[in-house]
Amino acid sequence: MPRTAQVPEIPFIGTLQRDAGPLSRQLAQAMRDAVARGELKPSEPLPSTRALAEALGVSRGTVVEAFDQLVAEGIFSAQQGAGTRVAAALDRSPSPRQRERKTVKLPTKAKAFANITKEFAALPPVPFAVSVPAGAAGPNEVWRKLGNRLRGGDAAPAGYSEPQGVLALREAIADYLRRSRSVHCEPHQVVITTGTQQGLFLSCQVLLEDSDAVWVEDPAYRGITAILESIGSQDRIVHVPVDEEGMDVAAGVGMDAHARVAFVTPSHQFPLGMPLSMGRRRALLAWAKTNQSWIVEDDYDSELRYAGHPFPALQGLAPEQVIYLGTFSKILYPSLRLGYAVVPDALVDAYVGARILIDRYPPTADQHVLAAFIKEGHLDRHIRRVRGVHAERRTFVIETLQRFIAPDLAWLQPSDQGMHLVLWLADGLDDREVAAVGREAGVALRPVSPMYAGRKAPSGLVLGFGGFEDKAIEQAARKLAEILKNLTK
Ligand SMILES: Cc1ncc(COP(=O)(O)O)c(C=O)c1O
Repeated sequence: MPRTAQVPEIPFIGTLQRDAGPLSRQLAQAMRDAVARGELKPSEPLPSTRALAEALGVSRGTVVEAFDQLVAEGIFSAQQGAGTRVAAALDRSPSPRQRERKTVKLPTKAKAFANITKEFAALPPVPFAVSVPAGAAGPNEVWRKLGNRLRGGDAAPAGYSEPQGVLALREAIADYLRRSRSVHCEPHQVVITTGTQQGLFLSCQVLLEDSDAVWVEDPAYRGITAILESIGSQDRIVHVPVDEEGMDVAAGVGMDAHARVAFVTPSHQFPLGMPLSMGRRRALLAWAKTNQSWIVEDDYDSELRYAGHPFPALQGLAPEQVIYLGTFSKILYPSLRLGYAVVPDALVDAYVGARILIDRYPPTADQHVLAAFIKEGHLDRHIRRVRGVHAERRTFVIETLQRFIAPDLAWLQPSDQGMHLVLWLADGLDDREVAAVGREAGVALRPVSPMYAGRKAPSGLVLGFGGFEDKAIEQAARKLAEILKNLTK
């Protein structure tokens, strides 16, 4: 039937369902959609509320309510004596579809953040993704029990809590760090974070002025260099080379002695794996003291040392100079999103203030569960057990890679801790290309070259070895060997 101004056609509404929420809301949404699709045109008259109610088999009040809502949203207009129409103004504004199609000019920062999303996309939990928890060796059962026990008490939802973090957890962490990592700290210095990534972000917020130079290791964890780039500090990043003793402090002094902050991974250089030697530790601390600079110690996986005891934290040698960052992502679960910063007294309020502005604090229920987990001895037991599991996984991955991959194509960087290995690739093999082909073939690989500052970065892969079955590791190693062979031809 042709549409006329006098006899408006009943628009196609679809079916309204009595058990799917208020009918007036469903009707309003259906008419909104009809306008968006262009089925109801600007200025087009609408049927009377009575006619529409009859056609749809609903009460007139339901239709009136839906019309009123759309008039309030500016989608319909109602004039005394002239009935209700689709608003004329919609003629000039693009429909939501048209809007979607238009390319939006993004601010430079938005583009940079969008690239981070691609770069940090989580790898599927297949070999050789990093930080995959130790499967059956995980403390899932204890965790569930503690959660159930605490749910009715401390871990029950309550009002706003302490932004620095739950006191019981700060006490447990301070105690654990004093005895196992030689960290000097009291609970009032511990700030609970959502992981080391947030600790790094907070440190950049709190410690850096616009013009400050910053030391980072070369190669470095992209989680820190990407933050510095995102806050516009890229021209002030001093990429201090790493050799077999870790960060070359003398080289850093030669490049820029007046940097405000040095970001380091002294227990287990990321990604290469060597510890910072005692000589370099002393040199770094002496530099920081003379220059009144801060050191941010990222201690992401030192619990997992397989030959001998974990190295003591750098923080223990200079508690007033060092901000110590730790995480439960490696040793427990990355999905927990719980970590901590141990900060010198003078910085506690600043870190807590910055913390409040980001997200106030992490949800408290898991903080209570984790506090009980540490205080009741489960963490120590879990670390002992998981160290054995990872050591065994690591040996198996090393042997399997050596079995399948010819040593002239790829070779392993020596290391004795953590949850990953670095596999160097022969000249001519591009690590980004290998990672991309690997992804297609179902092998999770991270290229090393983006972690270097210089253009002539060596080519290599970061390989995680946590939580995978023998068979999956063998299959992945075989596929990787095949990929390397094919790309060498
Ligand atoms: C060197 C290093 N630092 C920090 C982190 C961040 O860990 P999270 O934010 O999960 O605690 C990671 C994660 O892989 C890492 O490898």
